[in-house]
Amino acid sequence: MARRAYNFSAGPAMLPTEVLEVAASQMLSYRGIGVGPMEISHRSAHFSEIIECARETLRDLLNVPQSHDILFMQGGGIAQNSIVPLNLMSLADRSRPEADFIVSGTWSEKTEQEAMKYGRTNRAVHLDGRAPLSQLNITASTFSKSASYLHVCSNETIEGVEILDLDPIAKYNSSPIVVDASSNILSAPVDFTHVAALYAGAQKNIGPAGVTVVIVRRDLLGHAHPYCPSAFDWRLVSEHGSMYNTPPTYGIYIAGLVFEWIRDQGGVSAMHANSEVKSSLIYDCIDKSSLYYNHIDKSYRSRLNVPFHFHDRSLEELFLEKARDIDLVYLKGHKKVGGIRASLYNAMPLEGVATLVDFMKEFERKA
Ligand SMILES: Cc1ncc(COP(=O)(O)O)c(C=O)c1O
Repeated sequence: MARRAYNFSAGPAMLPTEVLEVAASQMLSYRGIGVGPMEISHRSAHFSEIIECARETLRDLLNVPQSHDILFMQGGGIAQNSIVPLNLMSLADRSRPEADFIVSGTWSEKTEQEAMKYGRTNRAVHLDGRAPLSQLNITASTFSKSASYLHVCSNETIEGVEILDLDPIAKYNSSPIVVDASSNILSAPVDFTHVAALYAGAQKNIGPAGVTVVIVRRDLLGHAHPYCPSAFDWRLVSEHGSMYNTPPTYGIYIAGLVFEWIRDQGGVSAMHANSEVKSSLIYDCIDKSSLYYNHIDKSYRSRLNVPFHFHDRSLEELFLEKARDIDLVYLKGHKKVGGIRASLYNAMPLEGVATLVDFMKEFERKA
């Protein structure tokens, strides 16, 4: 087998080796038909089977109710920053497009900025990850009565801030909640009674870059702005079974294999438990250390992206170099915040995290 490093990249990220092995074995011939999955027409019976299986496995994994449709789109999370307002911002009042935003880091701020092109935006909550939600004094007046939706990023990949429990928000907000779950989808259950729409770029916890999963309540389809590009109109995409335009077929094929892999590992509850164990190992190491620190409030610490810093920044490069020497790769923090970031998506095995923690302890002993 090829040498596999422990890849802590924030995305595109590590995929399960078992999935890549199946993909490699079928690269030239999908199920013995003499044509590889990349070469199959999206109109063929074989691809229909691939996309339907992927959709249904995802529905089972996340317990998506029939009130919501599952779409496979292109364009990634950043395209959804336009696609969401183009589809939803005029829901409450056609003449006054408006939406609320919870800003908890770089990605939700970008989302808010993009939406400004399409209508009025209200920053309902600004969360810097240092104070718990309970201290923010969220009440009914936090949210606009005329907002068409409230946008939340459930995991800020750069800062490592995760909002898993939407109850304190849903308690007071009355507009549909739209979640950017790009970096924590399939790592914990989702309560679709609170979530009207959810989107996620595939390249972290689903598969290769190029596919975007959108899970949207069916009553929210059909409200797109007249200027919304047809390929981005959720209603058209839904009516055509995600084949209004040619979908990213190979990415959907791999996503389907990843969904089956998650199911075979015990499903989303197993991924949830694993992510708690893996991230706690690193946070415990950081909290007991006098070399490393992470300043995010414990109630928000991301299970998927663990950023940390050195009190003495000059050690960063040496840490990264020594880590690379033992096949712990892509640990450099995002340039906006610096430091180190260990991304622990579903495909990262516990042994990878244990190896990193041993290395961190050893590095501290020698520093
Ligand atoms: C939470 C989150 N949202 C959105 C994006 C943007 O995704 P894309 O580059 O696929 O458009 C990212 C990318 O890392 C992300 O982490």
